[in-house]
Amino acid sequence: MNNTKRDSFTTGIGVIAATLGSAIGLGNIWKFPSLVGSNGGAVFILVYLVSTLLVGLPVMVSEIMLGRKAKADAIGTLKKLAPNKPWWLVGAAGVLSAFLIMAFYTEVAGWVFAYVIKSVSGSLLSTDPQVTTAAFSQLIADPMQSLIWQWIVLLLIGFIIILGVSKGIEATTKRLMPILFGILLVVCVRSLTLPGAGEGLAFLFNPDFSKLSASVILVALGLSFFKLSVGMGTMITYGSYFRDDQDVPFTAGRVMLGDLLVSILAGIAIFPAAFAFGFEPSAGPSLLFITIPAIFASMPFGQVFMVLFFILASIAATGAMLSLLEVPVAYLNEQIGLKRWQATVVTLILLALIGSTAALSSSVLANIKPFGMTFFDLYDFATSNILLPLGGLFICIFVGWVFGFNKVEELLSNSGTLKNGPVIKAFFFVVKFIAPILIVLILLNGLKII
Ligand code: PHE
Repeated sequence: MNNTKRDSFTTGIGVIAATLGSAIGLGNIWKFPSLVGSNGGAVFILVYLVSTLLVGLPVMVSEIMLGRKAKADAIGTLKKLAPNKPWWLVGAAGVLSAFLIMAFYTEVAGWVFAYVIKSVSGSLLSTDPQVTTAAFSQLIADPMQSLIWQWIVLLLIGFIIILGVSKGIEATTKRLMPILFGILLVVCVRSLTLPGAGEGLAFLFNPDFSKLSASVILVALGLSFFKLSVGMGTMITYGSYFRDDQDVPFTAGRVMLGDLLVSILAGIAIFPAAFAFGFEPSAGPSLLFITIPAIFASMPFGQVFMVLFFILASIAATGAMLSLLEVPVAYLNEQIGLKRWQATVVTLILLALIGSTAALSSSVLANIKPFGMTFFDLYDFATSNILLPLGGLFICIFVGWVFGFNKVEELLSNSGTLKNGPVIKAFFFVVKFIAPILIVLILLNGLKII
């Protein structure tokens, strides 16, 4: 729709930084540790690893491949690759998912930003979980504070998105990712050098197979979608900014490993310390805001590490939100013809509206429960358990059964330049047969049918 040259990522490092920035997020720091805690520790990590390899990664390679081929937004990509067919609806569902994820994600990010300030001020510095619970409740039960933190988050990422793909997303993530790894390592060393840390390591790395159950497997599969930002058009959109000489399977594999490393390191930052001070590991999503401050308050120089930890979480959330916001912005820009800044402003306004229902779901809207859930929980449930798996399923069917092997081989070998035949064959087999079956299982579980 617009004739100016399409913006894209400019360097190989930039591609990795942006894509890794999308994958790494609150999923690693808020969801992963709490799910590890409540699903039996090491055995969950093992199952998550297998589901990431068999489902998350193949869908990621597929999406990047399609986006890079079409050089368009999520809807435009499927319109181009399957003209006059309804496949574009998969892209449309992706744009919808991006909105719904952003609605609750920006709120959690808002709490994380607020916690940076609170940990600097020392108001979270208590070893008593009752005190940290009260601090958290006071934040989320205050409608004005909840809304304002969400707006601050929206304005920050909106500003970066308006700067563009290379000058905004790529430049920001390239700076932030090394800082993120640096902070994470510092916090890990602190946790590991506490007396009694060994028990936490055993919980993370010594699987107890009696904890394995169907629900553990299915929760792990759902998490692998959310973690790798797949099933909703993010990786299609980012793929469209990839360079043509980029090795897609290799890049996606590195991003998957980098993301896994961050999840494990987040576990190492939290569990040894939790065990050292006698905290319950299976605390659920409140782990980040209630248990973690109390853990840090228990250790020498704890305030410094608490501040670092919440800065780390803010950085992680920012890279992920940039990729979420880019999905509707690219769509409005390329398909509807709005200028980039207009597309961003329209999206931010819509997000502030939809997001407010999530932001207020612990205060004024706490008693409104469509489908028995608050708006916040509903958006999380509907995306992780239904929309992302559905999106991923259709992407696999499209690539495996409509697109076909010859086109996949051409695209993933960069027209024969890369000698990665066996990788492509293995990938195609998984995408055509294994991943769709596994995804159907997640879906049925998500809908509580099995
Ligand atoms: N992968 C991000 C995280 O783990 C979340 C995300 C999901 C980002 C879907 C983009 C798309 O926090």
